[in-house]
Amino acid sequence: MKRKLKPGTMLYPLPAVLVTGGDMEHSTVMTAAWTGIVNSDPPMTYVSIRPERYSYDIIKDAGEFVINLTTADMAKEVDYAGCVSGRKEDKFETLGFVKEPCEAVKAPMIAQCPVSLECRVTETKDLGSHTMFLAEIVCVHADEKLFDKNDRICLEKAGFLAYLHGTYMPLGSKKIGSFGYSVMKPKTQKKKAAESRKMSLMKSKSKGKDPKKKESVFTGKSRLVSKD
Ligand SMILES: Cc1cc2nc3c(=O)[nH]c(=O)nc-3n(C[C@H](O)[C@H](O)[C@H](O)COP(=O)(O)O)c2cc1C
Repeated sequence: MKRKLKPGTMLYPLPAVLVTGGDMEHSTVMTAAWTGIVNSDPPMTYVSIRPERYSYDIIKDAGEFVINLTTADMAKEVDYAGCVSGRKEDKFETLGFVKEPCEAVKAPMIAQCPVSLECRVTETKDLGSHTMFLAEIVCVHADEKLFDKNDRICLEKAGFLAYLHGTYMPLGSKKIGSFGYSVMKPKTQKKKAAESRKMSLMKSKSKGKDPKKKESVFTGKSRLVSKD
């Protein structure tokens, strides 16, 4: 039996992403969990931001932003970017985030994040506590390391970070199946499983240091502000 709770934002897990705005020189970065996909064609997303955030005006004025997907080993930096405001310090500097230019928007993407989505705002909606920036995904960048030899993108290799009701969790410890596996013919299932075993073997062999990872000057000091 389930316990009845008061209405709340109980939809988890969510990604904890790093939203960047501004331009290469004057940039902003904040953590957001209120994000998701809302349409396939055209590809559309949203991010909901409280008007009091430093990032808010910058994103609103520019009408564009970048969603940078994060990995479990970045959890501390993600938390920090979600606890300290850009009004107080340059979080790129503190956290050692390397800026990379985008193609269609002026905002930078973060080199350490394996996937970055360039977004152009199509609609802004004040919902109450947050304003939702509905946006079209106009370009996607994915780390070379995520592609297999057939040029297939394997996001399960990324080691993404999930946000679970106030807790950070690593994603993808063990693969359960893939889209359509419940209705897949046994022969195809076996072939896919063999492919996946081969991939994980290759992955464990090629584990090395990330050359893109800049030394962080992050001290881990905490100045908590409201979380969502
Ligand atoms: C895991 C996590 C998720 C967050 N999600 C959101 C969110 O979706 N929207 C929002 O407005 N703030 C969110 N925050 C809070 C902001 O990231 C935080 O207030 C940040 O300091 C804002 O930075 P800025 O003032 O430099 O823009 C989140 C914080 C954390 C730690």
